[in-house]
Amino acid sequence: MPQTTFDIFRYQPDFADESYRQSYALDHEPELTILDAVLRLQNEQDGTLAVRYSCRSAICGSCACRVNGKTVLACMTQVEDVKKEFGSDTVQVDPIGNFAPIKDLVVDMDPFWEKFKSVKPFLVPDGPAPEKERIVSKEAMQKIYNESKCILCAACYSECNSFAADEEFVGPAAFVWGYRFAGDERDGQRKARAKLYSGQHGVWDCTRCMYCNERCPKGVDPRDAIEKLGGIAFNEGISWADSGARHAKAFLISVRTGGKLNETLLVPFTAPIQSQMDMPFALRMLRKGKAPSPIPHRVKKRSEVNKLMKNVKETI
Ligand code: SF4
Ligand code: FES
Repeated sequence: MPQTTFDIFRYQPDFADESYRQSYALDHEPELTILDAVLRLQNEQDGTLAVRYSCRSAICGSCACRVNGKTVLACMTQVEDVKKEFGSDTVQVDPIGNFAPIKDLVVDMDPFWEKFKSVKPFLVPDGPAPEKERIVSKEAMQKIYNESKCILCAACYSECNSFAADEEFVGPAAFVWGYRFAGDERDGQRKARAKLYSGQHGVWDCTRCMYCNERCPKGVDPRDAIEKLGGIAFNEGISWADSGARHAKAFLISVRTGGKLNETLLVPFTAPIQSQMDMPFALRMLRKGKAPSPIPHRVKKRSEVNKLMKNVKETI
């Protein structure tokens, strides 16, 4: 029978101001999830250990936590798999990152729900209501299928670097739900949504670290949803809203005209005023051969790049 040591984050504000760590040894069957291990510890060794859970089936999203530093759903993660991956009989369990702990593994999720509400995660159709229902084709639903899988577990926020740097960043799951409705052909608020999601702390503030895609337990790929919202902002003509949008637009223009990135275009597009102040410095760099030529360069087979761009546009 395997034996595992669980090194668990403890925070008991009724008894101590500071958090601490506590170790528990457990003999168990080889098949045991992290959540079941914590519940056994709670039942058999320490009734004060707090954890949030409900379905125990990877559906409700409430048991997200960090196991050996990676955010996972505790109910879908096997203890023995973690031990094998890390080559150790000790497993560390912590609350999800970027949210304040309330007690042990339970965090304050209020900021998460505020962000979720801020994107208007509901359908706002245009025009009068139909007699029966608004029918959508299978193909149209397919476009938002991935986003519909989100269970609001907040694993993506736990790993989000933009959220860690800016607590007002709207964030991955909220944007997933934003795209879930902006991409729904029954919704009549595409432009308003594009505007809402493009402002300060919006889609352009994502650092593209991709951790949300990597850690999402349901394969939702939140970063992809953020990218699609950027595409909608372009299509709705909201591409000059802020420096992030202009930066992305400069990429687009550069690739469309030359087939690859012309770095010299990026600064004047992204920060026009700043770039004028930096002009003497830029000219010195050009003279010394430290900056690429501002004359657009063209790659061979540019038509292939254009085909790729057309395909990307069609998926939005
Ligand atoms: Fe969880 Fe994935 Fe939804 Fe983020 S996008 S809340 S990680 S299911
Ligand atoms: Fe519901 Fe884990 S307990 S997702």
